[in-house]
Amino acid sequence: MPPARLLPMLVPALAALALAPGSAIAAEPVPLAAQGCIGCHGPSGTGSELIPRIAGRLAGDITNQMRAFASNQRPGTIMGRITRGYTDAEIAAIAAYFAAQK
Ligand code: HEC
Repeated sequence: MPPARLLPMLVPALAALALAPGSAIAAEPVPLAAQGCIGCHGPSGTGSELIPRIAGRLAGDITNQMRAFASNQRPGTIMGRITRGYTDAEIAAIAAYFAAQK
């Protein structure tokens, strides 16, 4: 426990952290295999101007896109190289995680 005099400072700081959107304290831990995606697609896969959104997509759709990139069926700037590094089980875990995001 921190000394009592620190508590008034700590409580608002912790509350701010917990409430900050996209903060490190996520509601759900990001599976290890999906850690390699969040730097570009965002912690919940919401994407950006340059990176497509993958949050809330059907898991089967994410899996199919990843396989299509891996086999060069779907050309990409970066995704082909990235997807070839994952096993089927990891792809399934990654797809389930992003499909469950809002
Ligand atoms: C270096 C940045 C980067 C990383 C890391 C990355 N992506 Fe991507 N992703 C992209 C870009 C850019 C595209 C657009 C296709 C392309 O140019 O390769 C994309 C496209 C996709 C698409 C297709 C979306 C659509 O609308 O059809 C999926 C699915 C996807 N990424 C999933 C993932 C997953 C899962 C991971 C982690 C294993 C990941 N990406 C890691 C940058 C990234």
